[in-house]
Amino acid sequence: MLLWGCLFIMLNVLLWPEIRTASLPLHMDSVIQILARIEKEAPVLHHAAPSLLLMSESSIDSFQHLLLSGTPSPEELKLDPLGPELQALATSLARHRVNSGQEYGVVLAPDGSTVAVEPLLAGLEVGLRGRRAMAIPLEFRASNSSSEVRDTHKEAGSTLLPHISTTPQEFGNMSLNPTILPAVHANSPTSVDNLLAVTLTRALGVAFLPGPGNHSPTGLGPDGCWDQLSAPKTFSLLGTEASSALTVSYLNGALDGVLLGDYLSRSSKPHPKLTHLLAQYYGAGVGGNPQFRSNFRRDNAANLTSQESLAQQIWGSLLLLQALEPSNPQMANLLQTQLAEVAARAAKEFTEAFLECPAILPRCRWGAAPYRGSPTMLNLPLGFLYVHHTYEPHQPCTSFSQCAANMKSMQRYHQDTNGWDDIGYSFVVGTDGYVYEGRGWHWVGAHTLGHNFLGFGVSFIGNYTATLPTAYALRIVRDTLPRCGVRAGHLRPDYKIHGHRQLVHTDCPGDALYRHIRTWPHFREVKKKL
Ligand SMILES: *[C@@H]1O[C@H](CO)[C@@H](O)[C@H](O)[C@H]1NC(C)=O
Ligand SMILES: *[C@@H]1O[C@H](CO)[C@@H](O)[C@H](O)[C@H]1NC(C)=O
Ligand SMILES: *[C@@H]1O[C@H](CO)[C@@H](O)[C@H](O)[C@H]1NC(C)=O
Ligand SMILES: *[C@@H]1O[C@H](CO)[C@@H](O)[C@H](O)[C@H]1NC(C)=O
Repeated sequence: MLLWGCLFIMLNVLLWPEIRTASLPLHMDSVIQILARIEKEAPVLHHAAPSLLLMSESSIDSFQHLLLSGTPSPEELKLDPLGPELQALATSLARHRVNSGQEYGVVLAPDGSTVAVEPLLAGLEVGLRGRRAMAIPLEFRASNSSSEVRDTHKEAGSTLLPHISTTPQEFGNMSLNPTILPAVHANSPTSVDNLLAVTLTRALGVAFLPGPGNHSPTGLGPDGCWDQLSAPKTFSLLGTEASSALTVSYLNGALDGVLLGDYLSRSSKPHPKLTHLLAQYYGAGVGGNPQFRSNFRRDNAANLTSQESLAQQIWGSLLLLQALEPSNPQMANLLQTQLAEVAARAAKEFTEAFLECPAILPRCRWGAAPYRGSPTMLNLPLGFLYVHHTYEPHQPCTSFSQCAANMKSMQRYHQDTNGWDDIGYSFVVGTDGYVYEGRGWHWVGAHTLGHNFLGFGVSFIGNYTATLPTAYALRIVRDTLPRCGVRAGHLRPDYKIHGHRQLVHTDCPGDALYRHIRTWPHFREVKKKL
């Protein structure tokens, strides 16, 4: 372990003689530029690019080290294809961290989402080297007291764990017992998926461990805002939540790492160039129904795993971590059963509150102007969801830049022409896979005259008089958005869906869309009072 530590420090000195503040914008294109430079200047290295970048910070830890086995050789690392500017950027991006309300190691992607680079690179690295189930040695899994784990760990750093190579399919179809808590020994994980472990499951497990002094776990963290969208430099977290490192951006990067790593490990050699892969995956203009694109990462990831197998993988990652870092105060005295409970809670919370929820881009991310005046708070939970179409803009928006421009023009119209305080809708649904936050879950909107205190106004961008939104966009409003609203306590479980025209004299939400929403389970007729 010590030897490795020294080696890594040396490598870093070799690689990064000069640390400067990055001057390039924190945009995914900058990451692609770094990879392009490596591919161009050092083609022999391009398969090792993610590990080169990951090691640009000395802080790669024993867990990552174990799972990202087969790091490049020292000869490879002597090649230094990056100029000082790209080096500085790589150094600042390779390590994800959260500190005093700021998040570091994240970039803005063309789809409007923010992505942590570290788990993305780790996923790419595993994908290039091969996704596999790594056996957890018997002595780690059989123990149910932390002291035994401590005794057995000493060998871990040097012997490394034996690798069991299995095909991804084989591994993905592990049949797991969903009720993991009783009979811990029988179901104790025997292996971890190296891809999930370096990207997602270790981070999830750690975020749901009890804090020091039995404080509650930090859990899922918030999203955030860029200082500016054209040339982003700093990213500030929203809200005053405890400083969880498991932010929306971290989870985005982790899911992208899982999806792209899985793709790479299935693709035949020679592997596709990472620059091509990333440019396609994050490419602009990706509207429609789910594809292998960043916009649909949550759905694609949900298809790749289940809550039960995640719980098992998180548990396995925690076991491994406990063995590797016996002095970690968060884990020192936790028993197997407690680790299993932590894993089950983390898997449930992540699945329900993230994976199965639509991605909502906060106001700051589409460039909203400030609210005028002082907003009125809603009295939650509400009992209604009112469906609208925007009519103007009449074209569905299929890319972040188009949807964000639509949001800004609607806000301008509502504020300047209608004289309202803000864009009227609570939420707006694009055809790019995203929900755009208008007034959000907490503030009274201006969408359905006489009913704004009673329900949320949700609008589809487009004119749905004669055509329907995509199946994906429809499913957001019919299923995922209200389900998450109910779960978060914003919407009553017995909420009703109405079309705008049922309450106000208008054609909204368009004939075709209105006919369609009448088939939804929560749709209700309005009782006419006479
Ligand atoms: C684990 O705990 C059970 C019950 O507390 C005990 O019977 C068993 O011997 C323990 N196993 C090990 C390997 O320590
Ligand atoms: C997964 O495993 C189960 C049980 O071994 C088997 O019945 C099923 O066909 C497998 N599914 C796939 C997709 O391989
Ligand atoms: C997920 O799987 C379902 C059922 O197999 C499929 O209909 C859907 O299109 C998939 N979603 C994505 C995003 O691939
Ligand atoms: C909306 O669609 C209807 C039916 O296609 C069309 O008659 C109308 O002109 C459209 N309105 C706008 C503003 O595009």
